[in-house]
Amino acid sequence: MITTDSIQTLLKALQNARDQKKRIGLVPTMGNLHEGHISLLELARRESDFVVTSLFVNPMQFGPQEDLQSYPRTPSADQKALSRAGCAALFAPSVKEMYPNGLSNHCSVLVPGVSGGLCGESRPGHFQGVATVVTKLFNIVQPDIAVFGQKDYQQLAVIRAFTQDLNFATRILAAPTFRAPDGLALSSRNGYLSPVERDIAPLLYRCIRQIAEAVEQGERDYASLIKDGKTMLEGAGFRMDYLEIRAARTLEAPAQQDKSLVILVAAFIGTTRLIDNIECCLP
Ligand code: PAJ
Repeated sequence: MITTDSIQTLLKALQNARDQKKRIGLVPTMGNLHEGHISLLELARRESDFVVTSLFVNPMQFGPQEDLQSYPRTPSADQKALSRAGCAALFAPSVKEMYPNGLSNHCSVLVPGVSGGLCGESRPGHFQGVATVVTKLFNIVQPDIAVFGQKDYQQLAVIRAFTQDLNFATRILAAPTFRAPDGLALSSRNGYLSPVERDIAPLLYRCIRQIAEAVEQGERDYASLIKDGKTMLEGAGFRMDYLEIRAARTLEAPAQQDKSLVILVAAFIGTTRLIDNIECCLP
């Protein structure tokens, strides 16, 4: 595996791979890799011949009160895990390499519509930062395919939207959410949880799964499903950000004709904000 922090070096390796007619895959990450990230890499390996994993804690997508400084950084463990998993190139640039002129006057990619509401409302500017850095990575790597996790459902929708609107040739692939045996979606932020908080955390998935099951069995009183779900989570010690039932395609409130829905949740345990989601289909 090639490991580099330099765009130039990465471009040379990519040129080599293209000369050998290899299809390029990209897996963007912020590092502190877990099995969820590795499952993305495995999907990328099945769908391409030369997988680049980027590891970059992107300052543009963190709000001023968020965890940019404390975000877990484990570069040498990440490098080992990627090499073991068959990654061809690890691109781990510095902030200076990605934003040589700083962040303040950097141009950015705004994705209206799907960026609004849900995490877009609680984290102003977040998806603008995500769309901008992923655009930069797409322009650097020019991948044939790129893999993103369904765990970050709204992020995936944002990426699909700007990829289509801005005519990127990259095919976006979605990987299913990788969960711990008790149902908790793996996340780098799970490491912030105390043992007691970690015990409570799987309730988040249990809650949205129960709602999904009720919807699939024909329950149409969404307001009361949401109310009961929030009561359950708050009773267990969560502080709610949102719990919503939306149309899977648009992330808007479901209309009569929408058959594919998604239940999305964001909630705090202590100071740790966790998100999760589950898709379901109307009978
Ligand atoms: P990060 O949180 O490191 O996640 C990198 C990728 O791994 C994302 O596509 C995310 O959806 C996916 N992922 C995380 N946990 C997962 C799980 N349990 N199962 C499946 N996939 C999972 O998301 C980001 O980084 C950044 O916003 C990024 C896209 C890299 C832009 O900076």
